[in-house]
Amino acid sequence: MKIKKMVAGLAVSLLAIGGLAACGKDKADDGKLVLGFSQVGSESGWRTANTESIKAAAAEAGIELRFDDAQQKQENQLKAIRQFIADKVDVIAFSPVVVEGWDAVLKEAYDAGIPVILTDRAVNSDAKYYKTFLGSDFVKEGRLAGEWLVNEEKDATEDVNIVELQGTTGAAPAIDRKKGFAEAIAANPHLKVIASQTGDFTRAGGKQVMEQFLKANPKIDVLFAHNDDMGLGALEAIVAAGKVPGKDIKIITIDAVRDGMQALADGKFNFIAECSPLLGPQLMDLAKKVHAGETVPARILTEETTFTQETAKAALPTRKY
Ligand code: AHR
Repeated sequence: MKIKKMVAGLAVSLLAIGGLAACGKDKADDGKLVLGFSQVGSESGWRTANTESIKAAAAEAGIELRFDDAQQKQENQLKAIRQFIADKVDVIAFSPVVVEGWDAVLKEAYDAGIPVILTDRAVNSDAKYYKTFLGSDFVKEGRLAGEWLVNEEKDATEDVNIVELQGTTGAAPAIDRKKGFAEAIAANPHLKVIASQTGDFTRAGGKQVMEQFLKANPKIDVLFAHNDDMGLGALEAIVAAGKVPGKDIKIITIDAVRDGMQALADGKFNFIAECSPLLGPQLMDLAKKVHAGETVPARILTEETTFTQETAKAALPTRKY
């Protein structure tokens, strides 16, 4: 009886050890660096291009990528990052949906000795808990959009009514682009933002909010959308309201994804400040470096440009995304 009990106990212990190893998914058996990446979602053309860039670059660099799509929900990102910590991945990277609320999870990764890289969007947390931040200068993008408008309307003698479609509330690009744009247009007191609301960086959101803007405001001269997708959704609402996009209502956006560039080349958009989603190769390089214990710059800025209707026509044939 005693021996039977001992055998049963041993079997249970062995099963438990086996189970832990299976759910821990500790390391790749082939010695590859394991990168856990938590993506914001798939809300826009930009995001799709960013995901493709990261997946392709990981394959190219021989890195095992554990990818999670958070569907624009912070709680999903927190869950994914905690799973990466439990799985003891080598490096964690994520593009935070919003700026606030990361202190605890970043500290958990830090305490577990797993280096963290921020890509695309910043957080409002102590920088000692992550190695670097790779991404765009969103304030500059907003400023470039505003400066274009200041120049475009330099001879205005009456008020120019602007409506603004903001990105996801609390997200770094929404906060910073709004700020940069407001700072730039302050140069001309005729430039007035008469309505500003979030469209959550989606086409559907852009269309729905623009419909409301059009109903509530008889005179809209300019739309500033924080990304191409919201601009494209709004464009549908503008056409449905019997107005000519690019003429009756000038449209300024950010991103320069293919559909946005096409609208610009077709004269339906007026100006785009670029935001590059092609962060994959730089991210893989950084993952290797931080895993090897190398020091990397605290901030790595993406190189970007701007497009007018003319330059969009020239750039479209070779546009990668
Ligand atoms: O964080 C980058 C922004 O997020 C892009 O401009 C937008 O298209 C995306 O959803």
